[in-house]
Amino acid sequence: MMTTASISATEARSSRQGAGRGRFITLEGGEGAGKTTQLKRLVDWLQGQGIDPLVTREPGGTAAAERIRALLLDSANAELSADAELLLVFAARADHLTLCIEPALAAGRWVVCDRFTDATYAYQGGGRGLDRSRIEALERFVQRGLQPDLTLLFDLSVASGLARARQRSAPDRFEAEDLAFFERVRAAYQEIAERSSERVCLIHADQTEAAVAAAVKASVTQRLLGGA
Ligand SMILES: Nc1ncnc2c1ncn2[C@@H]1O[C@H](COP(=O)(O)OP(=O)(O)O)[C@@H](O)[C@H]1O
Ligand SMILES: [Mg+2]
Repeated sequence: MMTTASISATEARSSRQGAGRGRFITLEGGEGAGKTTQLKRLVDWLQGQGIDPLVTREPGGTAAAERIRALLLDSANAELSADAELLLVFAARADHLTLCIEPALAAGRWVVCDRFTDATYAYQGGGRGLDRSRIEALERFVQRGLQPDLTLLFDLSVASGLARARQRSAPDRFEAEDLAFFERVRAAYQEIAERSSERVCLIHADQTEAAVAAAVKASVTQRLLGGA
C-alpha cells in the first residue's frame, strides 16, 4: 500500500516534471547480469525516498502474461517458431501495459519493471535475427508511443553472466542457447544504449553488488529526481 507521504512525494516530483504521471523504469541485460538483484535494491532505496513503486516483470506481470511467460521459458517448447515467440512476447506486453503498467502510471505511481521491449530487440532481434522493422511495427501497435523514462542496462561479459545464471538455477529455454546467441544479444543491447543514450544508462555489471547499486542510485537521482 502507498502511504500518504509517498503519494505526496510522487505527486510533487511528477508535477515538477509537468505531468501527473508516474515514472517508468526498466532494467535490462543478459542472463545473470544482476537485473533482479539490483531491482530489489532499487525498490528498497526508492521506498526510503518515499516512493512506493509498482514492481513487475516481463514477460509477465498479469495472470495471462505470466502464463505466456511460462510457455516462452519452458524448455519443452524448443520447437516454438521465432515469429510465434515474437508475437507471444508482444501479446503478453499488451496485457501487461493495459491492465497493469498504464493504470499505475496514470495514477501517478512509479513502475519498476524487470525487462521490457529492449529485451525483444536484443533476444528476438539480435539473438533470433528477426527483422527490426517487424519489432518496430509491433512496438508502435502495442505501446502507442509509451517508452520507459529510464532504462538501466546491465552490461556483463557473456561468460560471466552465464556462469552466474547457472549457479542460480537450471537453464530455461533461452539459457539453453549457444554462446553466439548471447553475444548477439549483448551486441544488440549495446547498440540500443548508443542509439538511445537519452533514455538508456549503461551500467558496468562486473563490479560488486554494492558498486552496481551505487551506479543505479546515481543514474536514478540524476535522471529522474532532478540531480543532487
Ligand atoms: N554484482 C554481482 N557480483 C556477483 N554476483 C552477482 C552480482 N549481482 C548478482 N549476482 C548473482 O548472480 C546471479 C544472477 O543474478 P540475477 O540478479 O538473478 O541476474 P539476472 O536477473 O540479470 O539474470 C545471482 O545468483 C546473484 O546473486
Ligand atoms: Mg532475473
